[in-house]
Amino acid sequence: MPKPKVLSTRALFPAARKILDADCDVEYMTGDVRPSREDVLRRVKDKEALVCLLTDKVNDELLRNAPKLRVVANVAVGFDNIDVPACTKRGVVATNTPGVLDETTADFAWTLMMAVARRIGEGEALARSGKWTGWDLDQLVGADVWGKTLGIVGFGRIGRAMARRASGFQMRVLYTDAQRVAEDVEQSLHAEFRDFDSLLAESDYVSVHVPLTPETHGMFSSPKFFRMKRTAFFINTSRGAVVDEAGLVAALEAGKIAGAGLDVYENEPFILPGLKRPNVVLAPHIASASLETRTKMACIAAENVTALFRGQRPPNMLNPEVLNGK
Ligand code: GLV
Repeated sequence: MPKPKVLSTRALFPAARKILDADCDVEYMTGDVRPSREDVLRRVKDKEALVCLLTDKVNDELLRNAPKLRVVANVAVGFDNIDVPACTKRGVVATNTPGVLDETTADFAWTLMMAVARRIGEGEALARSGKWTGWDLDQLVGADVWGKTLGIVGFGRIGRAMARRASGFQMRVLYTDAQRVAEDVEQSLHAEFRDFDSLLAESDYVSVHVPLTPETHGMFSSPKFFRMKRTAFFINTSRGAVVDEAGLVAALEAGKIAGAGLDVYENEPFILPGLKRPNVVLAPHIASASLETRTKMACIAAENVTALFRGQRPPNMLNPEVLNGK
């Protein structure tokens, strides 16, 4: 029996390649330059599985072009790059990588929060510049994180990992979500539910942990930033499109909020020039980028593919109905 043909749009890590290569005939798109759309479309034509990144758009055009495709395995937890209903319509299983990146992503949201509050970008630039004249009483004074109020928008796995970190910093934790969580969960995380607007008004740090969906798209509209405290910071490690970026720039320019820590942008890799301000810490979408976590993500994607070809249900199906009755 020939092995099933798989396209991986990136080289992946050795541990993940080992899993895939044992069962499949895999074409890896390697190289420093991201593969072009045309190249992906050309190479996926005869493949039964696609291992892809969040930068690969899996839409009707791609699916139409790959009639043998049975599974699309995203190496990411967010899957707004995949048209899941279109996959379902064509009987293609779509999978993601939940669970393994929660703590690493929360670590990074915390990093951004600390960095912007304590002005680490400005401080590092000064320390390297050769212009530092020594300790001074009011030099680069920032804001405390400990003891403040953290507002978590989206109280899923990553939002809850944020709440756990907050207790070590003696913070008050507020959260908002489409649904209030069970009382015992609130109690164990010392988290209080607020509606979105109240959370914005009460928090010193607002950290976003929602997936990008039609409901969350643009939820941080311009007026929302004007509800925040002038001393508050906005942290985003979810997806750029949950934010009206022009509105965020306007709020920063008007001094309506104190600063922001951003890892994600609406049109990556483009970053609005207005966001490149001293009181904004900018990162290039690396919240889950520890070697341990990225390796696990790639391995999970590989296992989702091999499970299907072994006749099992892939562990992280986004459209389980595709295999119902099979
Ligand atoms: C990264 O942004 C992910 O969704 O895994």
